[in-house]
Amino acid sequence: MDTFVEGRRTLRGSIRIPGDKSISHRAVMLGCLASGESRISGLSTAQDVASTVLAFQRMGMHIEFRGEETHIAGRGISGFMGEVGPQLPEIDCGNSGTTARLLIGLLCGARKRAVLTGDASLRTRPMKRVVAPLNDHGAAIRMSGGHLPVELTGGRVQPIHYRVLVPSAQVKSSLMLAALFLEGRSIIVETVPTRDHTERMLLHMDGRIGVKRTTGGTQIHIMGLRELAPLDMTVPGDISSAVFFIAAALVTPGSSLTIRNVLINPTRAHILNVLGRMGGRIEQEVREEFPEPVGDIHVRHSRLSGVRVGGSDIPLIIDEIPALAAAAMFARGDTVVTGAGELRIKESDRIKGIVHMVRSFGGRIEESEDGFTVYGRATTVPAEIDSFGDHRMAMAASVIALATKGRSTIRNAECVDISFPGFFEVIEQNTAG
Ligand code: S3P
Repeated sequence: MDTFVEGRRTLRGSIRIPGDKSISHRAVMLGCLASGESRISGLSTAQDVASTVLAFQRMGMHIEFRGEETHIAGRGISGFMGEVGPQLPEIDCGNSGTTARLLIGLLCGARKRAVLTGDASLRTRPMKRVVAPLNDHGAAIRMSGGHLPVELTGGRVQPIHYRVLVPSAQVKSSLMLAALFLEGRSIIVETVPTRDHTERMLLHMDGRIGVKRTTGGTQIHIMGLRELAPLDMTVPGDISSAVFFIAAALVTPGSSLTIRNVLINPTRAHILNVLGRMGGRIEQEVREEFPEPVGDIHVRHSRLSGVRVGGSDIPLIIDEIPALAAAAMFARGDTVVTGAGELRIKESDRIKGIVHMVRSFGGRIEESEDGFTVYGRATTVPAEIDSFGDHRMAMAASVIALATKGRSTIRNAECVDISFPGFFEVIEQNTAG
């Protein structure tokens, strides 16, 4: 599907963004493992989250949607281990890396047999990062070439003692979910901070988890085979989706936008600091702190300057870099991103995608192995650009299109449904020409 975006439109008013995708995946998974019925309000309607829901429904779990609420009949840690038959059907994780990687750990811990697969993009993405530590601890996972499909063939995982080598919340969370089923204490250490939703949710569910910050990294201790209390929570708006509206409002003159009830957890909202460093006029109003920090974000059109990001910034803004690159085209000076090689193994090679996007809209950019430099103050021109099936690239291109005089075309724009169904409708409802 092609979508046309008319440029030079201001963003005004107040919007809400669908529920956070990372939190929604975890709420479904942990809701299924809780003892009793969980009630989750505002679960993400994203296709990726539907992949997680379908996976558990195929395993016989009852997940029901009643209006804004999702009800999950949890089986308990011991019930989940015991109840599902020894041979599971093939589980299709669609486009969702989080579904695949977290399920590999969870199902291995629970000693399930299963085959996990996914769409053409997901079948190229690396799985060794979760499979290797699990196999080293006694799992029996088979795969070829380090990719899906993977076959979980049973095996008894021992309590995990592992230092996470790639800064990845998916790897950390996968091992934590396995640890829930293991007798005794597992210790998972992360040296570079990544999103901490699994830790927060387990604490919220009275899980036996301790988080200790040491000079050698953050140690996460989990006592396995302890039951979890059901969840009763509202999922905040997804900051990784909100960022496209924040970037668009920053770069389109006359814009002034409020985004209500957005996740502002520091391991996710670091992009607000980065955009602030660029001169972005962004204010946060905190509304809630527990189990996740939530607030309203006010953003106004701003004169931006270039910025440098790298090192430990990167895992905290990994999903927001396409939006950052879009904003950087309108900044004075250069924006330099380094240490972001992980972008090459997302839903698409996002470094290549960003380079293609910036050039298509008439900007200047230089590619490096693990990042790029955007030369700012571009006089942008409308473009006809393909998303190549990557939702965040489709939305980043829309940001540039909104700030560019004329009409742009985004090809294969329907992929926005992967994380943000209704993205183009929200644009239509909140822009004026
Ligand atoms: C996610 C972690 C990140 C992120 C992805 C969602 C999660 O991936 O890019 O969109 O929910 O844990 P990595 O763990 O591979 O960095």
